[in-house]
Amino acid sequence: HVTWGDTHEDFLHCLALYSSNDPNSISKVIYTPCNTSYSSVLQSRIENLRFNTSETPKPVVIVKPTNVSQIQATIKCSQKHSLPIRIRSGGHDLEGLSYVSSTPPFVVIDLANLRTVTVDVTSKSAWVQSGATLGEIYHGIGMKSRTLAFPAGICPTVGAGGHFSGGGYGLLLRKYGLAADNIIDAHLIDVNGQILNRASMGEDLFWAIRGGGGNTFGIVIAWKINLVPVPPVVTVFSVSRTLEQNATKLFHRWQYVANMFPEELMIQLMIKKDSSSPTITAFFNALFLGGVDTLIPLVKEGFPELGVMKEDCKEMSWMEAQISFASGFTGNLSTDVLLTNTSIFPHKFKQSIDYFTDPVPLAVIEEIWKRIGENVEIVWLFLTPFGGRMSEISESSIPYPHRAGILYQMGYEVGWDDGSADTSQRHINWFRRLYSYMTPFASKNPRRAYVNYRDLDLGTNLPGHTSYETASIWGVKYFKNNFRKLVQVKTAVDPTNYFRNEQSVPPFSS
Ligand code: FDA
Repeated sequence: HVTWGDTHEDFLHCLALYSSNDPNSISKVIYTPCNTSYSSVLQSRIENLRFNTSETPKPVVIVKPTNVSQIQATIKCSQKHSLPIRIRSGGHDLEGLSYVSSTPPFVVIDLANLRTVTVDVTSKSAWVQSGATLGEIYHGIGMKSRTLAFPAGICPTVGAGGHFSGGGYGLLLRKYGLAADNIIDAHLIDVNGQILNRASMGEDLFWAIRGGGGNTFGIVIAWKINLVPVPPVVTVFSVSRTLEQNATKLFHRWQYVANMFPEELMIQLMIKKDSSSPTITAFFNALFLGGVDTLIPLVKEGFPELGVMKEDCKEMSWMEAQISFASGFTGNLSTDVLLTNTSIFPHKFKQSIDYFTDPVPLAVIEEIWKRIGENVEIVWLFLTPFGGRMSEISESSIPYPHRAGILYQMGYEVGWDDGSADTSQRHINWFRRLYSYMTPFASKNPRRAYVNYRDLDLGTNLPGHTSYETASIWGVKYFKNNFRKLVQVKTAVDPTNYFRNEQSVPPFSS
């Protein structure tokens, strides 16, 4: 057990000592609660406001490195003083695990200063530092080429570091798979402070860091990503329907058709209800890799009930399509949307995800509507169809296992603003009841989950102790049969379980 008061000066002294050759003095990138800018640095990348309260455990030190040697120094000194660390890139962890720990004292390494994106059009690849956001990556690619893209998430403020570590799905999922499927090299600092690349870390560790979850195998500094071809003109539409406009039947039908379209077409379904609106609205948001004249006959044939017209569609570049989705189809195509630091969902929230291998019956959709209509502030459901490329990639290609046989995934999200503990508990209880209600309809044996939609309701490691059996409870839901190999890799590269959090993969020995 560490008494922070005893180690505070020693820890800071250690950092100064280990980085004495560093021309950018480490003292300039260290923030303790005595610093006036400590709170703003901490809060700058807190996406879920549920973990931005006075009760939330806070780090004793935040290090916001500007170079790799400062990270190495922080690892060494944290180990010397038995201080656990948390690594933060974009700060979108749904349970706040990149900047909150249930076992203080702890240190946060915030990678926000390491955010360079270097695009090489000739080799169709890019090096991306972990602190870069998805928006910055899309901007970097779009500024260099209209016909190259990268398959990752929609929200522009999500960080590369956590997103790539857990998988990363987005609009190109059906055509090119996940972000992690398209990573070809990485720079990682291991538990000994060594910098490794793909060749020196070996294929097993390289496999594990592409989907096995963050804060487990080391700190990934940068990723080499494979850029994928897209046509110079793509088409988007967003068609909304309320319950009065047949949203129930359209949702039901969407389950049968969205995963059957050619892989160039992604039609996501977003359901929204907030306390200010009288009705539930379903948004059918689409990206098609091609022109409108090819798209319209496809949708008319496969999903005529939706009634999409040419006037609903807009042709643009792939980067502009990302902007359209990120801005909620407002017509704002400014690249500022990609470069923003402002959260697009500045609320307290609880989220999780289910995978579906069979369509849910109409009665279930009606029950979902009933529950959404209960006394909660904001509800979002995000449905993404699978099929296409996702069905071709083997379950063990990377740790993310949810491939052939999945019709679609549905993310559930409830959000609220009121700060009282009662309100938070009421919303979380509502969420848990919905998740429980969906049990018979979601995937089974195991009920699958996605490590990037981390949900601590699935179980947690105990402070100072965990086991293969304990971690299997959620590990098998996240990784299916890949969980065992992840434990083997962890045992080989970090046997003392230095990189850990409440849901990290443990080594066999712990
Ligand atoms: P954050 O910095 O919080 O890190 C997440 C986890 O990874 C933590 O455990 C952290 O310690 C670890 N970590 C971070 N950087 C690391 C590094 N360099 N090396 C090792 N470990 C590291 N997902 C998706 O697939 N598609 C989507 O469209 C979206 N959209 C979306 C929108 C919004 C608003 C939210 C809140 C979340 C999503 N997500 C998503 C989920 C998202 O992919 C997931 O939360 C990522 O882990 C976030 O990565 P960040 O770097 O932002 O988070």
